[in-house]
Amino acid sequence: MKFTAHNILLNNGQKTMGDDSILLSDSAVWSSIKKTVDLFIPPTAGDRSKMRVVDLGCLEGGYAAEFARMGFDSLGIEARAENIENCNYVKDNLGLPNLNFAQDDVRNMANYGKFDITLCYGLLYHLNDPAAFLKLISECTTKMLLLNTHFAPERDVRYRLGPLNKYFIAPIQKRTSLFEHQYNYRLSPITENEGYKGRWFKEWTPGTKKEKIEKLLWASYNNHRSFWLTKKELTKAMHAAGFNSVFEQFDYTGDLFRENYTQYYNRTMFVAIKH
Ligand SMILES: C[S@@+](CC[C@H](N)C(=O)[O-])C[C@H]1O[C@@H](n2cnc3c(N)ncnc32)[C@H](O)[C@@H]1O
Repeated sequence: MKFTAHNILLNNGQKTMGDDSILLSDSAVWSSIKKTVDLFIPPTAGDRSKMRVVDLGCLEGGYAAEFARMGFDSLGIEARAENIENCNYVKDNLGLPNLNFAQDDVRNMANYGKFDITLCYGLLYHLNDPAAFLKLISECTTKMLLLNTHFAPERDVRYRLGPLNKYFIAPIQKRTSLFEHQYNYRLSPITENEGYKGRWFKEWTPGTKKEKIEKLLWASYNNHRSFWLTKKELTKAMHAAGFNSVFEQFDYTGDLFRENYTQYYNRTMFVAIKH
């Protein structure tokens, strides 16, 4: 059993990734989620065992498990068999009846009912229909969406150069970081999809065998390319989907190595609320 990202402390004292990496429960990413939830839905706001949380694209189940430890009724949805095996191993070793996992495409989340809180971490930028998916999230979410995602830069001359960037500039920057003020994701030129501005990102080559896709444990599942909205368009799409207030949360970078993480990786954490 190999865990690739979520180091989880089990009931027997063992950690899913051993002693060399930080526990997910001690990370700034988790503490930023926890304190945001406590701020908007304090423990005094009601019986948490009656409140439902969904963790979309939950990988090895670490965040879903922490929500269950907070007392919420927690469900992780994950497409890949190998990841779900790890999730169920975590469930078996934590003995929490309020922690559950489903192997499914997140686009089927409506089949699992409504949720008070939706966690969408590292997932939206793996979809080719992010605006429609934000709408679906809103239909299924009664209070709060926590969204950690990449976004497309408005301007980046490299992404207008097509193959020159893909085969020449990006490989050099990958090896040397030469003139790289922002990571080179080999995105497309700016374009429109679902009525929103953004850029395409290639996940895998069309026609890739199912078994190979199954092994790309962190990648998209049913779409070979994904659409990254610009930051402004992301906020518009969340408002249009039905969240009245959208905030940006900066605390999650605490234990990440780069000072300029958000700008370098074009990534941020949003908190979208219904009130
Ligand atoms: C980059 S990982 C992020 C994992 C986790 N949420 C985190 O932040 O640590 C993306 C996860 O989403 C899953 N995934 C991608 N597309 C999916 C889909 N359409 N339905 C369900 N899971 C999906 C992948 O298998 C992977 O576990």
